[in-house]
Amino acid sequence: MDVLTTVADLREAMRGQRAHVKRIGFVPTMGFLHAGHEALIRVARDECDLIALSIFVNPAQFGPQEDFEKYPRDFNRDAELCARAGVDVIFHPEPREMYPRGTGTWVEVEGMTDIACGAFRPGHFRGVTTVVAKLFNIVRPDRAYFGEKDFQQLQVIKRMTRDLFMPLTVVGVPTVREADGLALSSRNTYLSPTERQTARIVPRVLNIARGMVEHGELHAEEILAAITRAVATQPLAQLQYAVIVDPETFASVRLLTAEARLLVAIFAGKTRLIDNTALLPKAPPPPAGTTLP
Ligand code: PAJ
Repeated sequence: MDVLTTVADLREAMRGQRAHVKRIGFVPTMGFLHAGHEALIRVARDECDLIALSIFVNPAQFGPQEDFEKYPRDFNRDAELCARAGVDVIFHPEPREMYPRGTGTWVEVEGMTDIACGAFRPGHFRGVTTVVAKLFNIVRPDRAYFGEKDFQQLQVIKRMTRDLFMPLTVVGVPTVREADGLALSSRNTYLSPTERQTARIVPRVLNIARGMVEHGELHAEEILAAITRAVATQPLAQLQYAVIVDPETFASVRLLTAEARLLVAIFAGKTRLIDNTALLPKAPPPPAGTTLP
C-alpha cells in the first residue's frame, strides 16, 4: 500500500496504474475510519481493481465555530485499517497542498443545498463539492463511493457530477449502524456515556416515522410533529431540524405520494448527529370491484 501526500505524486502513481487496471475505485474520507468507511472500501473492492482512499480533514467544509481543530485524527490506525481492508493507495495531503496560496475557484450546487444541513451549515456543501471535485480531478476514478449516512452529501455529489459531466459513477452505500441503531460516525467519539444513551433517540425517531408511514400516515406535518414530541422527552437532546424531502430535488414534501426522504439533525449534548431514512408510502388499495391477478 502506498501513502502519498502531494498532488504531483498521486497523479504520477495513478498515471502509472491506469494502463494496468480496468476500474479505479475512490473512497474520499476525513479519516478516523470505522466500519462505515470499511463498508465503502468493501463495495469498492468488489467492483474495482484498484482502490484509492483519501484522508483529508477539509477546512473548507467547516464553519468558523465548528470542530475543524478538534476533529479526531489518527493516521497510523487509519493506515492499518486501510491495509487490512485492501486499499492500494492512501492520499493524505496537508491543507496547503489542496488549497495552495491564491486558490480562488469554488464548486457550488444550488437549490438542494439550501435545506437541511445546508441551511444550518452555510458554506458547508460548497466546501464539500469543491474538495471532492479537486480529488476527482487528481485521482480520476471510474467509480467513487459515498455513504447514505450523509444522504444530502451523496445526492449533492451526484448532482455535481451530472451537471459538470464528470466522467465517473457515484455509488451510494447503505448506512452501517451500532447494535442499537445509532449510525457509526467519527464524531460519535465526542459523546459522553450519558450523551451516548441520549443518542439512541436518533434511530428511534426514524423508526417512529417509518412505523407511521407503514400504518398509512401520509402527512409530513404529522410525522414531523411526532418526531418533535419524541425528541422533547429526552432532556439532553435538541432537535435542530427534521425535514421530509424529495430524494432527488430536496424540495419539501407535504403529502407522501412517492418515496421521500426524512432527514434529521439532533444534538445529544453538544454533539450534533445526523441521520436519514427512506419513507415509502404503501401503494393505495385497488379500487373496489377490481379483481387481482
Ligand atoms: P467522512 O465523514 O469521513 O465520511 C467519508 C464517507 O464515509 C462519506 O461518504 C460518508 O457518508 C461515509 N460514512 C460515514 N459514516 C458512515 C456509516 N455509518 N455508514 C456508511 N457510510 C458512512 O463525508 C466526509 O467524510 C467528507 O464530507 C468528504 C466526502 C470526505 C469530503 O471532505
